[in-house]
Amino acid sequence: MFEKITLEQIKEAAAEVRSRLAIAPRVGLILGSGLNTLADSVENAQIIPFRELPHWPLSTVMGHSGQLVVGNLEGQPVFVMQGRVHYYEGYSMAQVTLPVRVMQMLKIEILVVTNAAGGINPNFVPGDMMLITDHLNLAGMAGLNPLIGPNLDEIGPRFPDMSQAYDRLLLDLARGAAKKAGISLQEGVYAGLSGPSFETPADLRFLRVAGADAVGMSTVPEVTVARHGGMRVLGFSGISNKANLDGSTITTHEEVMEAGRVITPKMEKVIRGVLRSL
Ligand code: HPA
Repeated sequence: MFEKITLEQIKEAAAEVRSRLAIAPRVGLILGSGLNTLADSVENAQIIPFRELPHWPLSTVMGHSGQLVVGNLEGQPVFVMQGRVHYYEGYSMAQVTLPVRVMQMLKIEILVVTNAAGGINPNFVPGDMMLITDHLNLAGMAGLNPLIGPNLDEIGPRFPDMSQAYDRLLLDLARGAAKKAGISLQEGVYAGLSGPSFETPADLRFLRVAGADAVGMSTVPEVTVARHGGMRVLGFSGISNKANLDGSTITTHEEVMEAGRVITPKMEKVIRGVLRSL
């Protein structure tokens, strides 16, 4: 789980993608569990299965298809990751974040990430959409930061600033887009854990006092690498279940996928609105 990715490997993967693309994408999207049908709306789509790309990590989880969809959405050239991999699948942090490095090599300016998350904030209900205003890098605090290891100075600084991990201007565009579409948007802090086991009630009470509004098993590594590489980031959580702080209910992957079907149309409207206003 400490498989390194070299700059040469990143460049090889980027060169392969670039050689196949007819357009130069400006916005990258990573679509989370149950939320990846947005890729089906991309116009003039060029589709590249991840397995055709060198060094690319392949998802092993139900609900994550594995292909790159590049085309236009609301007039913006977009690079959509239909499916992502997670650390818990056994990939190293470097492998999990390789697609973000490739986006950086392709000079993509903005990363939009989505995920399914458990709602810790008591005001959240399944089906809600949450704008991520900040995150808790719990995996990072436990020593799982994708930037650990020799720094590649040519692609980012040793000690990147994370004071504005989620871009303030993009947050405002998302609020505006939601308002215009009549969609109520929750806001909050996303806590990133490694998974794959769901949290214990004690874990969840700890996360709540630590300031988390939602919890999930992805996103934070990709956002960390994107910021290291100088990309601007916008993130959304689809609240798929209520985190079970008192141990009275159980959480299943099936309910996470089911909630995605309710959340996807809202996500799509808000993301389209943001793309229109860029
Ligand atoms: N916990 C962690 N990850 C998740 C959850 C959850 O409750 N729901 C969706 N992803």
